[in-house]
Amino acid sequence: MANPVMTLGGHRGLGRARPPRGTTLNSNPELAVHARLAAMATAARPALLERERELGELLAAARDAERGRGRLVVIEGPAGIGKTRLLREARERAARAGMRVLAARASELERDFPFAVVRQLLEPALAAADDGARRELLGAAAAPAAAVVGPSPDVTAGDQAADPSFATLNGLYWLVSNLSEAVPTLVAVDDGHWCDQASLRFLSFLAPRLEDLPVLLVVATRPAADDAALARLATDPAARLLRPRTLSAAAVAELVHAAFAGAASDEYCAAVEHVTGGNPFLVHELLAQLAAEGGSGASEEAAHVRDVVPATIAHAVLVRLARAPESARRLVRALAVLGDGAEVRLAAALAELPRDAAADAADALVAAGVLEPGRPLRFLHPLLRAAVYDDTPAAWRAARHARAAGLLRAEGAEPERIAVHLVATDPGDAEAVVETLRRAARRALDRAAPESAVAYLKRALREGRGDRDELARMLVTAGLRATDPAAFEGIGFDLVAEMLADPPASTAVAAELGIWLYGGGRRREGARLLEQAAAAAARSGDHDLAMRLAAQRIASDQLRLSKAREEMAAYGARVRPGSSGERLFLAMEAYAASLGGEPGAVDVARRGLDGGRIFREQPGSPAPYGALWVLLFADELDEAGRVIEFALHDARERRALIGITLGTAFRGRLAQARGDVAGAEADLRSAAELIRVHTADVRALPTVLAWLLDALVERGEPAAAERELVAVGLGAEIPPAPWLNDVLFQRGRARLAVGRLDDGLADLLEAGRRDQAADRSNPAAMPWASAAAPALAARGRGDDARELVADELDRARRWGAARPIANALRVSGLLEGGDAGLERLREAVALLEDSPARLEHARALADLGAALRRANRRADAREPLRRALDLARHGGALAVARRAHEELAATGERLRPLAAAGADSLTPSERRIAELAAAGQSNREIAQALFLTVKTVETHLSNAYRKLDIRSRRELAPALAGSRS
Ligand SMILES: Nc1ncnc2c1ncn2[C@@H]1O[C@H](COP(=O)(O)OP(=O)(O)O)[C@@H](O)[C@H]1O
Ligand SMILES: [Mg+2]
Repeated sequence: MANPVMTLGGHRGLGRARPPRGTTLNSNPELAVHARLAAMATAARPALLERERELGELLAAARDAERGRGRLVVIEGPAGIGKTRLLREARERAARAGMRVLAARASELERDFPFAVVRQLLEPALAAADDGARRELLGAAAAPAAAVVGPSPDVTAGDQAADPSFATLNGLYWLVSNLSEAVPTLVAVDDGHWCDQASLRFLSFLAPRLEDLPVLLVVATRPAADDAALARLATDPAARLLRPRTLSAAAVAELVHAAFAGAASDEYCAAVEHVTGGNPFLVHELLAQLAAEGGSGASEEAAHVRDVVPATIAHAVLVRLARAPESARRLVRALAVLGDGAEVRLAAALAELPRDAAADAADALVAAGVLEPGRPLRFLHPLLRAAVYDDTPAAWRAARHARAAGLLRAEGAEPERIAVHLVATDPGDAEAVVETLRRAARRALDRAAPESAVAYLKRALREGRGDRDELARMLVTAGLRATDPAAFEGIGFDLVAEMLADPPASTAVAAELGIWLYGGGRRREGARLLEQAAAAAARSGDHDLAMRLAAQRIASDQLRLSKAREEMAAYGARVRPGSSGERLFLAMEAYAASLGGEPGAVDVARRGLDGGRIFREQPGSPAPYGALWVLLFADELDEAGRVIEFALHDARERRALIGITLGTAFRGRLAQARGDVAGAEADLRSAAELIRVHTADVRALPTVLAWLLDALVERGEPAAAERELVAVGLGAEIPPAPWLNDVLFQRGRARLAVGRLDDGLADLLEAGRRDQAADRSNPAAMPWASAAAPALAARGRGDDARELVADELDRARRWGAARPIANALRVSGLLEGGDAGLERLREAVALLEDSPARLEHARALADLGAALRRANRRADAREPLRRALDLARHGGALAVARRAHEELAATGERLRPLAAAGADSLTPSERRIAELAAAGQSNREIAQALFLTVKTVETHLSNAYRKLDIRSRRELAPALAGSRS
C-alpha cells in the first residue's frame, strides 16, 4: 500500500492542487511518491471535524447579513486550532449562497504596511469593476477611499495639515457600503493578529456600523491580548466570539486512521492525541513527519511517538526540507523572506533560480506539504514560514531583505512594498534607502496610517543619511497622530533634548511636540519648549507663530485669566493690523474678555471672526470657537448662526473632523438658546458620537458633554444626563480643571432636577468657586448663582441665596445681554415673592419679548404664570402659561412645557394631555432627518451629511412617516410645518 500520510499532504491543498510536474520530482523518489498521492487525494476533501456549532453560528450570522443586519464574528484561538480552515469553509459557503466575498490575510512581514489588509480586501473588487462602475463605487462620500485603494493612491484625502483619518475611514466605509448595496457581502480577515494598525482602525470603525449593512465581517485571530485595537474588536459587545476547541480523542483517532488507511492501533492514536493535545495543525504535521519516517501506526511505535516534543513539531518541516532538492530549499527560504503571496517570478529572482526550476521547486514544496498548491506561493501554515525563516542566520536574512528591496525598486514597486523589506535590513548609509522610507512615510501620513510612518521614519533616521530635521519633523507628526509614547525611542538620539537645545530648529515641531509632552505628563519640558520656540519665532520675525505657541502654552498651563491676558497682551501689541495674526489675537482676547464680563468683548469677537474668515485661516485651532462663544454669550444668535454655518461648511469641505464636530455642537447650543431643545439634543448627540466613535479630538468632549447635559435637563430627562456622565467616568469626582467646570455646573443642575438637592447644590457652589478662582465672572457663560439659589433657599439659607443672585444680576447688567439679566431677575423674583417678586418676573418677561432667546423666554413666562396662580390670580396666570406651553412644546423643551402644563391645569383650564403627537412626537434625530428629506435631500445625501448609514436614515424616516401619518415624501413638508403653526 502506498504511503498513506501524503493523503494528508494533499488534503491540506483542499482541492486546488494542479498536477505536479515531473522532471525535478523524478530525481527524488520520495517526493515523487508523495506528489502522486497528493494528486490522488485532492479529489476528495477530508472531513472538517467537530466544528458543527461554529459553522452553525457563522451560517446564522451570514443569514442575518443577507437580511440587512450585518454582524461581526471573531474566531479566536491559538495557532493551528483551525481558524483558517473555518474561515475558508465560511467563504466557500457564502460564495455558494451568492454572497460577495472580500477576503484578506494579514502577514507578519506586512504589519507596518499601511492598509495592507484593507487593500487586499477591496482592491480586487475595484479592479474587477469597469470604469463606470468603479467611478460609482468611489463616488461622493466614498471618494476619500481612493487615497487608499484607488487607481491613483497618491491623492491626499482631505486637509493636508489635518489628520486624514476620519475622511479616509469614512470613505472606506462608504466604499464597503456601496459594494454591498447590491449583493450581501462577506468580509473575511485571516490572521488578524498581524493586521496593520490602519486596517485595524478601519475594522473597528466598520464594526459598530455593520448593523445597517448587509455585511458579515469575520476576523480570525490568535488571542489578541497585546494589541489594544484588536482586543477591543474581539470584546465588542456586538461581536460573536467563536473559540474553536481542540479535537477530541475520537476525532484525532479519525485523522490517524485516515492517514494510515485504518491500520493504526488504538495506542498509537492515543499517543498522537497525547503529544498534540488535539491541535489539528500539530496532528497533521506530526502525522506527516511520522509517515516521512516510514511509520506504520503499529502499537510498538506508540512509545516513540510519545517522545516527540510538541514544540518541535512545526520544526519537523526542516527535516522534511533537508531531504528536498537544493532548489526547493533555496526557493522556500526566499519565500520566507518575501512573505506569503509572492509571485514566482520574484521568488525565483531572490533565490537566484531560473523560472522553470523555481516552478518545479514550488511543486516539490507543495508535494512535501510545505506550500499550498496554486499561485501565488503560500505556506500551508504561517508556523511553517516562521520555522523556515527562523532557521536562517540573521545577517543572511537582513541581506536577503535588502536584495528583495532592490528587486522591488527595480520593478518600480510602491514605496511601502519596498519598505516592508527595508525595515528588516541592517542600517547602512544609503541615500536611496532613506528616500524610499521618507516617501513611504509621507504616503502613510497622507493615508491615515501614522503607525507605519513612525516605523519607516525611525528606520530612516537610523540610516544616518538624508535630511534629519525633516525626518524628525515628520516623526513628531506621526508619533502624535499614532499616540505612540515610544515614537522617539530607538532613533539614536534624544529628540526632545535636541529640540530644547536648538530653539530655532524647534519652531517647526514645537506645537505638536508640545501636545505630546503635555499629554505624556512632561509639563515642564513642554512649557520650556513652547516658550523657547515662541521666542525663537519672534526673533526670526514670525510673529504669528510666536503668538500661537504662546497661546498654546498658556492654555496647556491653565493660567488664570488675568495672567493669561497679561502675557498675551505683549503679542497683541505687535500684530499687524488687518492680518490673520491680528484676527487670531482678537479672537483669543475677546474670549478672555467675555469671561471677565467686559461688554466690549463682542465687538472684539466680531473683528476677530470677520464673518467666519478666521475659521479658514486657523484650521484646527480652538481660538475661533472662543470668539463664536462670545456671540452666544451676547445673545447675538442670528449672527452666530451665520458664522456657525460658514465654519461647518468650511470644515465639511476640508473633511476636518474636529471642525465638523465643533460646528455641529455649536449649532446645537445655538438651537437650544433659540428654544429648539429637540434640535439641540440631536446635534449634541451627534457631536458626542463623532468624538466617541470617530475619535475626533477628545479635548472637545467636555464642552460637548456639558451642553448635552443641559439639553437633556431641558428635555426633561435629567436621569439620562447622569447616565452620560457615568459613561465617561465623571459620575463621581470631577477634577478641578477649567475645561471641566461646565460639566460640573451641568451635573449640579441635573442633580437638582432629579431631586438630589444637597448634591446638586454642592456641585453648583463648587463650580462657582472654581469659576471665581479663574477670574471668570460672566453669568452668560455660567449662571451658577441663580441655578443654586432656589436650592439654597430651600435649605433655609434664603439670605445667602438673595445675596448671590443680586450679585449675579449686577454682573449680568454689566455684561448687558438680555438672557443672563432676565434669568437673574426671574430667580430673584422667585426668591422675593409677593408683588415685588411678580414685578421682577414681569420685567424678565418684558426683556425677552423681542429676544431670539426663546427657551429663556418660555421659562420666564412659566414662572410668571405660576407665581400669578399662587397669588390666586388664575385668570391672569393663563395667558403667560399658555404662551410658555406653546413656546416650550414646539421646541421640545419638555421640562418647561410640563411645568407650564401642570400650572395651567391647576388654573382650571381644560387641556389635552401633553403626550406628544404628530410632529412633536418625533425624536430629535427623526425630526432632523425628516426636515432634510422635506428639503429635498435623498436618503443617501442625508446619510452622508449626518455621517449616518442609509439604513439608519430609512428607519428614522419610516418612523417619522408613521408618527406623522403620511405615506410620501411630498407630504413631509406640510406635515412638519402644520404642527408648528
Ligand atoms: N476541525 C478540523 N478537523 C480536521 N482538520 C482540521 C480541523 N481544523 C483544522 N484542521 C486542519 O488543521 C490544520 C491547521 O488548521 P488552520 O485552520 O490552518 O489553523 P489556524 O488557522 O487556526 O492556525 C489545517 O491543515 C487544517 O486543514
Ligand atoms: Mg490560520
